[in-house]
Amino acid sequence: MQVTYYGHSCFSVTVNGKHLLFDPFIRPNELAKNIDVKKIKADYILISHGHEDHTADAVELAKLTGAITISNYEIYNWLLKQGVKGCHPMNTGGKWMFDFGKVKCVTAEHSSSLPDGTYGGNPMGFIIESSEGNFYYSGDTALTYDMKLIGEYRKLDLAFLPIGDNFTMGIENAILASSFINCPHIIGMHYDTFGFIKIDHKEATDKFQRAGKKLTLFNIGETINYEFKTTLSKA
Ligand code: NI
Ligand code: MN
Repeated sequence: MQVTYYGHSCFSVTVNGKHLLFDPFIRPNELAKNIDVKKIKADYILISHGHEDHTADAVELAKLTGAITISNYEIYNWLLKQGVKGCHPMNTGGKWMFDFGKVKCVTAEHSSSLPDGTYGGNPMGFIIESSEGNFYYSGDTALTYDMKLIGEYRKLDLAFLPIGDNFTMGIENAILASSFINCPHIIGMHYDTFGFIKIDHKEATDKFQRAGKKLTLFNIGETINYEFKTTLSKA
């Protein structure tokens, strides 16, 4: 499994040769100005909710790459109206087997509207299971007690959690979330991009370490390879 960071909450995860792009927000992000959007590969674009800092490049990238978008039903309808083809609608609690592995949609405690004001439905997180590893991408969310269900549902190798506070949970709650989901290795997202969510990187990683957990903060444009061995469940 290969993970590349494009800033804010946008990651590309390569699973079984397929490129999964999460929450594309690149061109409006000053911190990601060195990323060339046209060079990004995507077979699937997963969208957690409608806010601009998660959807800004979704339409353009979907058209450019021909990727299949995966989102809730409301965002699916919005994407179709923007002329995006090959959209897969899902909703909270649902799972679907794709060619790279399984996607299960879980709740996120946040809000959701599209950049033009269209209702965005409920925000979601994604649990991805594959023969190369299992991970949870929470999207924007508060800490919720429901996260304990995720910990019981599947053994996770990695989890992407917001740590920037103000709009989502912050570092302390992300540490608790890491316990709830029973995944000690967290990749931080949704920090530094705007004034309200700037964090001290060393303080954040130290806090995780003191709690016996690991926080990885990618540089924008950085790629890390992970080797996990997992068996795909039937449930
Ligand atoms: Ni949001
Ligand atoms: Mn956001």
